[in-house]
Amino acid sequence: MTAAPPGFVHRFEPAAVEAGSRRTLLLLHGTGGNEHDLLGLGAALDPAAARLSPRGRVLERGMPRFFRRLAEGVFDLEDLRLRTGELGNFVRAASREYRLDRDQIYAVGFSNGANIAGSLLLTEPGLLRGAVLFRAMVPFEPSRPGGLEGKRVLLSEGRVDPIVPMAQAERLAALFRRAGAEVTLDWRPGGHRLEEADVEAARRWLNPSP
Ligand code: MLT
Repeated sequence: MTAAPPGFVHRFEPAAVEAGSRRTLLLLHGTGGNEHDLLGLGAALDPAAARLSPRGRVLERGMPRFFRRLAEGVFDLEDLRLRTGELGNFVRAASREYRLDRDQIYAVGFSNGANIAGSLLLTEPGLLRGAVLFRAMVPFEPSRPGGLEGKRVLLSEGRVDPIVPMAQAERLAALFRRAGAEVTLDWRPGGHRLEEADVEAARRWLNPSP
C-alpha cells in the first residue's frame, strides 16, 4: 500500500518501460472494493501498462466507494462533484510523482468506479485519453457536454443488469457521443457481474491489432 501522493490510499505498479509502454491504467473499483481489487484485471487488459489504483474515500456501511449515493442508482450530486475534483487532483499529483505520460492515462472502472470515471470524463475531458467502463450509469447530465473529441470510450454493459437498465446505458453512450467521444457500446448477455468476455473484449479494444 502506498500513501504518497496524498489524497488516496492506492497501489501503483510501474509500466514495463522495456516493453516500450507509456500507458497507465487508472483502476477504479466497485462498491465495497479496494485498491487491490482491479490490479489483476489491469494486468489482464494490458500487462505492460502502469497501474494506478486508488481506494474510494467514501464509506457506506464500511464499504469503500468513490462518492456518496442517496439510494441504489441515486447519486449525491454535490458529493460526486467534490469527489470527482479530488480524484482529478490525485491523478495529476500521481502523474507528477510517478512521471506518468499524461497523454496515455486510461480509466478502467467497474460499477461505482465506472461511474466516477464517467464523471471525470465529463468534468475534466482533457485528463484521460480514454476509458473502459464496465456496468456504468449516467453519473450526471452536464448542460453542455463537450471536449471529448479524439477520446475513446468503451462501455461494457449487461443486458439484464438490475442496476443499469439498457436504456440508461444507451443514454450514457449518447451523452459521451454528444461530448465528442468515439464510443463503443458492447453488450453482454448477463447482469451486473463482470464476465470473462468483458475482459477479452476490453483487452482487444485497448490493443487493436494493426
Ligand atoms: C453507484 O452507486 O455508483 C451504482 O449504484 C453502482 C453501485 O452499486 O456501486
